[in-house]
Amino acid sequence: PGYNQTRRPQVHFSPAVNFMNDPNGLFYYNGTYHMYYQYNPTGITAGNQHWGHATSDDLYHWHNQPIALSPESPDEGIFSGSAVVDVDNTSGFFGNQSSSNPGIVAIYTLNTPSKETQNIAYSTDGGYTFTKYSGNPVIDINSNQFRDPKVIWHADTKKWVMAVALPTQFSVVFYTSSDLKNWKKASTFSHHGWLGNQFECPNLVEVPVHNSQQQNSGETKWVLVVSVNPGAPQGGSFTQFFPGEFDGTDFTPEDDAARWVDFGKDNYAMQFFYGTENKTLGLGWASNWQYTNIVPTSPWRSAMTLPRQYALWNDPVLSWQFISNPTDMSTIMNKNLFSGKVTKSKNIKLGDGSGAYYFDIYVSQDQGQATQRANFTFISSSTKEELRMGLLMDNGPSFFIDRSGTKGFDYPLFTDKFATIQYGGIGGWHVYGVLDKMILETFLNEGEQSATTTYFSNGVLDKFSISLDTGLSATVNVTALKSGWD
Ligand code: FRU
Repeated sequence: PGYNQTRRPQVHFSPAVNFMNDPNGLFYYNGTYHMYYQYNPTGITAGNQHWGHATSDDLYHWHNQPIALSPESPDEGIFSGSAVVDVDNTSGFFGNQSSSNPGIVAIYTLNTPSKETQNIAYSTDGGYTFTKYSGNPVIDINSNQFRDPKVIWHADTKKWVMAVALPTQFSVVFYTSSDLKNWKKASTFSHHGWLGNQFECPNLVEVPVHNSQQQNSGETKWVLVVSVNPGAPQGGSFTQFFPGEFDGTDFTPEDDAARWVDFGKDNYAMQFFYGTENKTLGLGWASNWQYTNIVPTSPWRSAMTLPRQYALWNDPVLSWQFISNPTDMSTIMNKNLFSGKVTKSKNIKLGDGSGAYYFDIYVSQDQGQATQRANFTFISSSTKEELRMGLLMDNGPSFFIDRSGTKGFDYPLFTDKFATIQYGGIGGWHVYGVLDKMILETFLNEGEQSATTTYFSNGVLDKFSISLDTGLSATVNVTALKSGWD
């Protein structure tokens, strides 16, 4: 069917056909990024879970690969999990393999009608085909709520560490291993942050700490990311993070606060790439379990978020922030559509190229007023639909996103409006991001806050309209993006 349907994202990954959810097994080796994902090869709603697979050199141009892991019978599912590069052959699966072509081990949950267990499979061809380990399962606690193993290498203790969820006990359990086959329980992280109804997809990652939004301090800190579904603050599913310390066995959070990674409603089950050295790269599933099975796209459903690079910053006002920014987009930058200063208002014509755009706006407050507003609106000239964003200076600045003006999907739980609780500007307000056919991804202040918002318009959004109240001006750049599918 190709990738040119009206609502098909052009710079976000989506499967050619059928239903996708969580990213799985993200790893980078030898110039190639591998992404697996929860995939139903036989339907356009969730179920029949396999691991789909795609590869990329730049995280924007993806090559679809054959399905990597399939269940043995129709009542089983290969649920979410992770992958590692076993360079030292700790698992013993890769005896005769050359060190320039190390083996890959996938660690996943096998979901059966009676229980969920942790299983492994190994690949001798760099992650394209896998053999399931004959000694599976590697962890079985006789539970039907035990899933989503994410494994990392902990250099200080020279051990593999797995974070895995006990969803209905609001717990993440840490296990350690030296061979990926034998796992020993190390500790339990339980009842922290926002509980919702279930904990899923835990990820433990070491992240660079910044001195300000932009400046890397050279230090690192650990972050535990936990996805919650259902029961998120804005409804359905969301992802929260805990900054803290990890000593190889126990994770100790800084505090008990609940912090979200995204103020939109469409960023779930976030996972980080294994093997990206000192960069923390990751992406999430750009959807929400409340409506993912009924959104109006065909012949596929769901997309991933943009690939993002992460850092931590302890903002003096907002406390710990998980800074995220799109990874280098130079391979998809196309023609510049507008670049210049705006006072009062400006309409920018969109429509060139793939239908995906990068926007970058720096708002300055030249003259303060009691209330001021800056509106950034994507408009369809044929249907008059509007996708709105804006900055409100009223009792302190805040930022909103409003998808109620797009009319292609009418569902009570498809929440209309999102806003930051507080939007701290640094001498001005930086708003940038990507509009991509059905996804708006917005970043504020060098990625200190971000929102992923799906939208479903009937008409093509072909105009970007900026209007500024007196006292505000903006430097604006809008650039068309190339399709990642070309
Ligand atoms: C999260 C999740 C995981 C599970 C997978 C099944 O979205 O529910 O907990 O492994 O999806 O597809």
